[in-house]
Amino acid sequence: MNIFKPDVVIAIGGGSVMDAAKAMRLFYENPEMSFEEAYQKFLDIRKRVVRFPKINGVQLVCIPTTSGTGSEVSPIAIISDAKTGIKHTLCDYALTPDVSIVDDQFVQTLPKRLIAWSGFESLGHAIESYVSTMATDFTRGWSLEAIKTIFANLKKSYDGDLDARKQMHDAATIAGMAYSNAFLGLEHSIAHTVGSTFDIPSGVSDAIALPQVIRFNSKRPEKLAMWPHYSVYRAESDYADIARAIGLTGSSDDELVEKLVQKIIDLAESVGIKMAYKGYGVDKAEFDKKVDELAVEAYGDQNTVTNPSAPLISQIVQLMKDCYEGKGIVDNK
Ligand SMILES: [Fe+2]
Repeated sequence: MNIFKPDVVIAIGGGSVMDAAKAMRLFYENPEMSFEEAYQKFLDIRKRVVRFPKINGVQLVCIPTTSGTGSEVSPIAIISDAKTGIKHTLCDYALTPDVSIVDDQFVQTLPKRLIAWSGFESLGHAIESYVSTMATDFTRGWSLEAIKTIFANLKKSYDGDLDARKQMHDAATIAGMAYSNAFLGLEHSIAHTVGSTFDIPSGVSDAIALPQVIRFNSKRPEKLAMWPHYSVYRAESDYADIARAIGLTGSSDDELVEKLVQKIIDLAESVGIKMAYKGYGVDKAEFDKKVDELAVEAYGDQNTVTNPSAPLISQIVQLMKDCYEGKGIVDNK
């Protein structure tokens, strides 16, 4: 970029390609900004201590070729530190692309397994943004629309239906719009840390963590998340709303949440996802050795801040172990 001096950067590819383009544009325009500065954590994106400089020279156009990350509309770039292997979340509205082109011709020949994985990445975005402490009535509409579309179309798209694939492509961006404003939660913190450490594709690690985190969040929390707009715990009834929106019925919120969890598990299994980390060649001894450290990392992950239940590190350790074993999923069958 320094040699060519572009006016426009066009990123065409999956999430990593678009994230790389965002970071490249940021550091190209602001060579004095350091990577360490860029990934500093914050409570509220709109009241950050480290401010990103405005980007005004180079336009960024994003064209997604998978239907999952939502990066084409998000203010987020996930960049791994090559030295430590830690995935850092760079997040500031200065990173948002100027234009995104969401065209399903780029996903018509997507391999089946990528359809499954990226579909679950979108579902994770849509569900987590719906219950996030920063969700509002403006963002919940997007989250819910994406959730309904994904449940109605993921299996069909996986089986080769091209119209369903278009719907999935749009849903991924709609979910991206939701989480760009409402952000995510603990499922992402766990999926990022475990997934990057043990090389599990991100949509798969999202799928595995999703039911466990929903069950965890739907229990009245020991510690309420620290967020002024979220003074009253409502995650359980939010999950129940999601269940109703996709046509599930039940006589209590409790029952609806468990039905939603089962529906997620069934959908994942119908598209070939194994719902435990141990199903992806993760060695038990290695996992046990690293789990404490991973839980600390997940606790500090930017996504944990907006989770409706503030977890203790010991609870994250337990959740990660449950994800490893597929607790309440694999042993049910
Ligand atoms: Fe994600």
